This record gives sequence, C-alpha cells and structure tokens, in this order.
Amino acid sequence: AHFELLAKCHTTRARVSRLTLARKFSWEITFHVHGPTILPTFMPVATQAAIKGLTPQQVESLGVTLILNNTYHLNLRPGVKVLAEAGGAHKFQGWNKNMLTDSGGFQLVSLSKFTKITEEGALFESPFTGEPTMLTPEESISIQHAIGGDIIMQLDDVVPSLTPDHARVEEAMERSVRWLDRCIAFHNNSGKQTTQNLFAIVQGGLDLELRHRCVMQMVERKNKVAGFAIGGLSGGEEKDVFWRIVKQCAEKLPEDRPRYCMGIGFAEDLLVCVALGIDMADCVFPTRTARFGVALTPRGPLNLRLAKYAKDLAPIDDNCSCPTCTEKTSRAFLNHTITRETAAAHAVTIHNITFQAQVMGGARDAILKGTFPDYLRSFFANYFGEFG
Ligand code: GUN
Ligand code: ZN
Repeated sequence: AHFELLAKCHTTRARVSRLTLARKFSWEITFHVHGPTILPTFMPVATQAAIKGLTPQQVESLGVTLILNNTYHLNLRPGVKVLAEAGGAHKFQGWNKNMLTDSGGFQLVSLSKFTKITEEGALFESPFTGEPTMLTPEESISIQHAIGGDIIMQLDDVVPSLTPDHARVEEAMERSVRWLDRCIAFHNNSGKQTTQNLFAIVQGGLDLELRHRCVMQMVERKNKVAGFAIGGLSGGEEKDVFWRIVKQCAEKLPEDRPRYCMGIGFAEDLLVCVALGIDMADCVFPTRTARFGVALTPRGPLNLRLAKYAKDLAPIDDNCSCPTCTEKTSRAFLNHTITRETAAAHAVTIHNITFQAQVMGGARDAILKGTFPDYLRSFFANYFGEFG
C-alpha cells in the first residue's frame, strides 16, 4: 500500500491522506489497480457482496471508492470456490474500486450463538449444516485471499465491549496479538502482499492499560502491516469512554499508517473520531436505517414514516447532491412508498450513502483549507440545533 499524508489540522489530530492499495508491476510501471482513496472516508457495508438495494455501478456513481465486505457471509454464500473461480469478489460483483474484507471473527461472535474461542481459532456451528467448523487465523486469511479484497483484516478475538470479566478481555487482547502474528506469517508466505494489504486490530476492551499494551505490541509489527484498526468498540459503552479509547489508541498508532475505527457510523461519532486522528470507519447504520425509512440530513435524522411527511413535497434535503434529492423525490412520496415499494428504500439508501460521503468530504475539504474546527462547530450546531 502507498499511504501519503496530504494535510494536517493544526488544532485537532485530523488529517487528510491518500491511500493507494492493490499494486501490479509491469515493465517497471506500477499500476494501482483499484484507484486511490482519499481519507478520512466512510466505508458502506456490502454484506452479501452488495450494498442492499444498489448496483455496484450506482455505488460507484456516488463517489464511493472503498467498500466493506464480510468474510463470514461470503464464505457461507457463495463460498470461496465460486469466488476463486470468478477471480475474486471484485469480478464476482463487478466492483472496480477498493474493497476491504473483515476477518469473520466479529460476525461469528455477534451472529452465531455457539461460537467457542480456543487458541487454535473460533469454533462455530455452520448455520447451514450444523457441522462444527473451525475458523483459524490462517483460514480467515486464506478465505480473504480468495475474496481478493484490497485490505484484509486479521482474525481477532472479539469480546463485547461491556464484558465485565477483565481476565477474559485481557486474554482476548493477548490472543489477538498472537493471532496477528499467525495472520502475518500466513499472509507473507502467500505471494499476495502487493495486491492485498493486511491490517492489525487493536483490542483491549474499555481498559486504557490493556489498550496501551495492545497498541505497543502491534506497533512493534508495524513493518509487517499496512494499517491499524481499533476494534471492540461501539457495543453500547458510554461516549466518553469510547472517545478516550479512540484518542489514546490513535495517539500511539504510527503517523504513517491509516487508522480505522471499526463499526462506527453516526455522523457525530465519525467527526469526533476524525478529530482524534481516525482515517476510516464503517457501519451498517446508514444503509440499514435507510431501509427503515430514516434519512440522514445535516439537521439530523428524518423519520420519513412519520405522518407529518405525508404531504411534505420537499426533497429530503434541498442542498444534497444525491440523485434522490436533485431529482426532487418528495418526502411525501417516500412516506407513501417506504413500507410498500423497495424502490423507496433504495432512494433513501442512495441519499444516506451520499450524506455520509458529504460529511467526510466536508471534513477533508475543511482540513485541507485549515478550517476544520469551524466545520465541526457548524456541523454540531446544525445537527443538534433546535430546527431539526
Ligand atoms: N467490526 C466491528 N468491531 C469489530 C472488531 O472488534 N473486530 C472485527 N474483526 N470486526 C469488527
Ligand atoms: Zn440526498
């Protein structure tokens, strides 16, 4: 990966950078296969190799250059065999930009009741056959190689962030470091290092000391990873606890590697994270909430199912550049169709992805212009203002 800092905010730790991932070499020329991504950015989640309701072409037309796919789901269906035959998930789904795959551990813990974590890996019951199945760090990387994502994530031992058992949180943190070493060893023997970039995931729960120890150990492996994620958050912890963890981790992570905060998607959280030095985030929230009829706007979320929108002929947001808003699709129409026609969910999904991109794009522009603190002030005044 090629990671280049373009600008830094003087007041906060926010920064703008250019991340270029898969590289192919030919006649001494380096090709960046899926183009650059300017950070900070928000990654929409394409769980089943698709952002629900949208074609890859639509997603690309919204300016998205990096999406997230899940190893867990793609391994179950369509499975590595089909993906490998297709030449990877990019070709399978017709996506020409960058893709990150999560390692599967988090989904196993959150989606499968019977997951048992051992040193070897995560043992779970296949949801299709009921067979006991083991996902090891090596197996996770091998599946991610078949999927072919530009960024691949280490398998980590994830405990819910509100786990009271300190010993378990510590064990999971130490195990995540050991699993990182297994992922590095497997990846660096695979010949995939120039096209796929491995990220480490910092764990350690809500404990600053455990987080510190985890960051220090992972930073020792800096030359063997392309970036660092902060995992184990967004599990119902208090905001100020969440902020402190992100702040401390981001401060100790190296300047010259992208920093990715996993599972974060509320606009206010994204901007606080950016101010603390985070470059990437992902969450199902904007796309999921769209399907429930909630449109995100600079003045806060709009629940389009409410009766007060039934006769409201305004678009979701007059100033939004998304096709739903510029084509003047009315709130009344969306209110009428959201429970009846999937097209309404698609229209709101398009808007919400654009909104997330505008929040992050606005942050990038402001950091480049030296006006990021003003941007934060006006965002928060509008978003939590009394006119929402
Ligand atoms: N997605 C949200 N949080 C996490 C995490 O801690 N680990 C992984 N692998 N994925 C996540
Ligand atoms: Zn819009």
